[in-house]
Amino acid sequence: MQILLIGSGGREHALGWRLASSASCDKLFAAPGNPGIGEDAELVALDAGDHAAVAEFCAQNEIDLVVVGPEAPLVDGLGDSLRAAGFAVFGPDKAPAQLEGSKGFTKDLCSRADIPTAAYARHSDKAAALADLPRFGLPVVIKADGLAAGKGVIIAETGEQAEAAIEDMFGGGFGDAGAEVVLEEFMVGEEASFFALTDGENIVPFGSAQDHKRVGEGDVGPNTGGMGAYSPAPVLTVELELQVMQRIIRPTVEALSAEGMPYNGVLFAGLMLTDEGPKLIEYNCRFGDPECQVLMTRFKGDLAALMLAVAKGDLGEADIPEFDDATALTVVMAAKGYPASPEKGGAILGVDTAAGEGQKIFHAGTAIKDRALVASGGRVLSVTATGGNVTHAKDAAYAVIDNVDFPSGFYRRDIGWREMEREVK
Ligand code: AMP
Ligand code: GLY
Repeated sequence: MQILLIGSGGREHALGWRLASSASCDKLFAAPGNPGIGEDAELVALDAGDHAAVAEFCAQNEIDLVVVGPEAPLVDGLGDSLRAAGFAVFGPDKAPAQLEGSKGFTKDLCSRADIPTAAYARHSDKAAALADLPRFGLPVVIKADGLAAGKGVIIAETGEQAEAAIEDMFGGGFGDAGAEVVLEEFMVGEEASFFALTDGENIVPFGSAQDHKRVGEGDVGPNTGGMGAYSPAPVLTVELELQVMQRIIRPTVEALSAEGMPYNGVLFAGLMLTDEGPKLIEYNCRFGDPECQVLMTRFKGDLAALMLAVAKGDLGEADIPEFDDATALTVVMAAKGYPASPEKGGAILGVDTAAGEGQKIFHAGTAIKDRALVASGGRVLSVTATGGNVTHAKDAAYAVIDNVDFPSGFYRRDIGWREMEREVK
């Protein structure tokens, strides 16, 4: 089959790498892609916001499957436009993509379907939000309703911080995303990510991971898109995964289908493992970045065939996804200044020869300038390796980093620390 992959990050490099090596893939295009993806795909300069142009490209190139990597085009309805034009798409339509596009939408759905999550309130009026604050106690979580590139969540320790966050959101600090806010009860526990594929009817688990969202070692400093991750997440035991499927994923898929907005693609559940069992923090309507890099490293099988089955509603007949038992761990190399103001243009040397067997460097914000590889974004490389456990995978990943010369970059040295502490015991 001929496939078009939309996106340009480390997540899309990992997807492209697995799609291109699928027996059922004859040709892979990526738009716009990046230099790493260019090794596996033909790069095309398409604007994902121009739905007609994407559909025309698909028609001209006899595309059998479109895989949409990032959330923005899904929330923007690219899936609807391409399906209306007759193409098979991996990724939800605009209505079910509200699971990521509107935090209030997800909370209301959880409430209707009795899915365990933090208590909440939606507010589109500042005075009402301020008046409602006290009943949530402290700390309290304040979220901009819409997409805010992972920055729209404030955990307020004091009443003053909470009020300031509400003022900021209604004052336009998060643009349109903050026109409505969600107040949430603060949940205590360890976080883990769980993935499932669904065609709206059939659902299959698709692995677990844990990531490190804070920029600094020891999980301190500003939130980022993710500085590293590993898969599987041993804290998500088989028993807990079963609970997550039964109490969170399945009711979500069933509610969306019953309400006329069937979900198609990957559901990425951010979970809090509380004393009362796993609770949903949030949904994403796409793979995580960098979680995708570790999932794809462990995935065994024909990804293209599996994604086509999801897109066509044939997941019930597809092979059950299988993953290598090994642990995969990825360390993000970011440009200095990330996340606030990453330095662009810095040289990167050694990438072509740094990785050996069981090791892989995924490109994210890279570009070719004067025939040399340079940094062009915040997160630049995602250096991934496998091992028998987190400790071994981590050693293998940092061994690759030692071979990469990226003077204007930085990375955390402690990816996987929580799990490594448990492995020592
Ligand atoms: P989100 O973008 O909704 O995943 O939120 C970003 C981060 O904020 C999560 O990964 C959690 O660490 C934290 N968070 C969000 N909601 C809650 C909550 N209700 N209780 C505790 N922490 C939360
Ligand atoms: N790494 C978290 C995310 O992709 O949302």
